[in-house]
Amino acid sequence: MEPKEITKYGIELNNDSLKPLIVDLEGAAILLGRSVAQIRRLIKIGELVPMPGVRRNRFEVEYLKQWMASKRLYSGAMKVITLANQKGGVSKTTTTLNIGYDLASRGYKVLLIDLDPQGSLSVIFDVYNLSDFTIYDLLDKFITNKMNIIKQVIKPTIDSAAGHENLFIIPCSDKMSDMFDSLNKRPGGKVLLKHILLGIKDEYDFVLIDTPPLRLDLAIQMPLNASNFVLIPMIPDKLSFDAMERFKEILNEIIYFENPDLNILGCLFSLYKDNLPAHAIIREQTELQIPVFKTNIPYRTQVYEAHLVKQPLAKFISASDIAVFYSQLTDEILDSIGDIIDKQKHLNEEEVMNGN
Ligand SMILES: Nc1ncnc2c1ncn2[C@@H]1O[C@H](COP(=O)(O)OP(=O)(O)OP(=O)(O)O)[C@@H](O)[C@H]1O
Ligand SMILES: [Mg+2]
Repeated sequence: MEPKEITKYGIELNNDSLKPLIVDLEGAAILLGRSVAQIRRLIKIGELVPMPGVRRNRFEVEYLKQWMASKRLYSGAMKVITLANQKGGVSKTTTTLNIGYDLASRGYKVLLIDLDPQGSLSVIFDVYNLSDFTIYDLLDKFITNKMNIIKQVIKPTIDSAAGHENLFIIPCSDKMSDMFDSLNKRPGGKVLLKHILLGIKDEYDFVLIDTPPLRLDLAIQMPLNASNFVLIPMIPDKLSFDAMERFKEILNEIIYFENPDLNILGCLFSLYKDNLPAHAIIREQTELQIPVFKTNIPYRTQVYEAHLVKQPLAKFISASDIAVFYSQLTDEILDSIGDIIDKQKHLNEEEVMNGN
């Protein structure tokens, strides 16, 4: 056996090559680009398995490399997803909350941004209309204050329950309506959020942006300019279908003229009843126009109850079918993002091969 040297991270070095072979928690955190707390969380939920037969947490570097490769998203860049539909009451906020919590429970570091002056998402986390900093201040002061203000505006979602240590929120306040009006007049208004998020691009795996209804102005254009993906929550009725058709036009214009990196993840139906033919018809018509998630979120009174106690469904009633539906949706979102990224990689490789 080669003699081993233990570094301050407990990394055992092979003296010949000076390459680490085994790392401790801190070493694993460095290799995976995560905090020690996140590594502990991943161990707790069984995502990451330390070396067997060793009393302290130790990991073979080769295992960590393979683990990282199997989590194609984990090592990748921050993904920004806007949830938008100008139609009101279609479950934008409920979807943001539940997939945000699900992603965080799986070990991803997630930032929620509440852009809706109604502040429903902020109310759930008890951070609406704070006297402290909100998204209003971030947009207002970013140009002069840069990173200082970002750090102050991101709040933890305080709770000891699993999932919350990875879940953060930028809260909203009712002043946001005025901010949208003033940003509409500023030449850089549309891309302000994009520049802000560039400053934290290495700190989060996912950013989910909850947007207000009834607006097609900067309140929608600014988050879509900052995003790689858009998810369109819908309810299966004709009015929602008509709104989706109009929204699709807006999306196409933004992708064409402003943000070619934006991908449509798809429409998600909530309040869906399997035994109602009218719902199936709307779903089929939508599928002809735009990608639709296989998962339909059913109508369940537990959604109201969970909102009442300000909790994500997976925490409020984890054994219920609605929590399982949201988890299936999270799987689908991860798969779709992975597929889109693979397709883009393939296209880039083809371009290189063709010398473009
Ligand atoms: N699957 C569901 N079953 C039953 N009720 C639901 C379901 N999903 C959402 N709701 C309820 O529908 C209402 C609207 O949901 P939500 O606030 O998430 O929609 P929204 O699109 O964010 O609304 P707004 O446009 O006002 O921001 C809420 O009262 C919520 O509790
Ligand atoms: Mg909402």
